[in-house]
Amino acid sequence: MPAITLTDVVKTYPPREKGAAPLTAVDGVSLEIADGEIFGIIGYSGAGKSTLVRLINALEPTTSGRIEIDGRPVTGLRERELRGVRAGIGMIFQQFNLFSSKTVWGNVEFPLKAAGVPKADHQRRISELLHFVGLADKAHARPDQLSGGQKQRVGIARALATSPGVLLADEATSALDPETTQEVLALLRRVNAELGITIVVITHEMDVIKSIADRVAVMDRGRVVEIGRTFEVFSAPREASTRRFVSTVVAGSPEGDDLAALRRRHEGRLVTVRVSEGGVDQQQVFGVLARHGVRFEIVFGGIDEIGGRTFGTLTLALTGADGDVSAAVAELGAAATELPASPTTEAAPVRPAHDAEAR
Ligand SMILES: Nc1ncnc2c1ncn2[C@@H]1O[C@H](COP(=O)(O)OP(=O)(O)OP(=O)(O)O)[C@@H](O)[C@H]1O
Ligand SMILES: [Mg+2]
Repeated sequence: MPAITLTDVVKTYPPREKGAAPLTAVDGVSLEIADGEIFGIIGYSGAGKSTLVRLINALEPTTSGRIEIDGRPVTGLRERELRGVRAGIGMIFQQFNLFSSKTVWGNVEFPLKAAGVPKADHQRRISELLHFVGLADKAHARPDQLSGGQKQRVGIARALATSPGVLLADEATSALDPETTQEVLALLRRVNAELGITIVVITHEMDVIKSIADRVAVMDRGRVVEIGRTFEVFSAPREASTRRFVSTVVAGSPEGDDLAALRRRHEGRLVTVRVSEGGVDQQQVFGVLARHGVRFEIVFGGIDEIGGRTFGTLTLALTGADGDVSAAVAELGAAATELPASPTTEAAPVRPAHDAEAR
């Protein structure tokens, strides 16, 4: 059974001023998040990510559609029933949302009190949680005595206090530096692997998705425009908006000024080749070029790795007899795209490798 199921979920806000149009923040989202999965949701500011999160943990009612957690409906419940649902969902935030007047201990104790856990059990549970997040020695510190990374560890301990099955992380690392981000992501990976908790990571940072998510959904103006395994989405993005996100962490095909600079620096025809495990690999590419007597230089791109699988986009400057170059490019088929002679003309769209495989 999926941990979270969304069916045609819509959230429309009434107009902010009279005469304005209502705003549809979430526009017909359907998806299933598997039990034990780390699921990423990415999208630009205003895409509807946080709204979706507030619908999942029932902080706001949906306008229409259905949400289920562990097969139990979240939509259409009364306030009293919702309290039980919310206890099964942990939540962490960009600004940590800790009580500044309470100690670390007091912050983690808060949800235990709220859930009516007997006082006698608090000591053991809180110390267990603080050990798990590596803050046993900070129990009596106040939030303003902690670094950002430590604050988020407290946030995670607090979110886990009532043993939820699902943890929602809305931009949980966006206020942290890259190194601290990686530490917090490593902790979330442990939460998932050791406690079996399903995690939904909402972010606008592609490298967060890359390092932690099993699958990812790309949101654009309230809709999910692309969804798939992180490796597939990164190695062969289908949508233009996904390609823009992916290009922030993975080198794609050179465009605009980059392409113009390459043209000035290199002779020969420029061809972008997509390589990936399970698709065309580097040895095949260079084997084809050698067989046709084509010389090459790698002038742009790179090889990346997600979940132990490699993929990359390499742009090559090819030199040799024109007919030989054409024959080699033709043999590489869908994996290769020749870049336009003049950078002002549009490059032919690079066909995603998994489209080619499906055929
Ligand atoms: N309570 C509200 N009332 C009216 N409009 C809202 C409300 N909450 C969100 N919106 C609007 O819904 C849209 C989606 O907002 P949301 O906060 O979900 O986006 P987001 O993807 O989380 O963006 P960000 O990356 O900036 O956090 C925006 O246009 C926003 O202005
Ligand atoms: Mg948001």
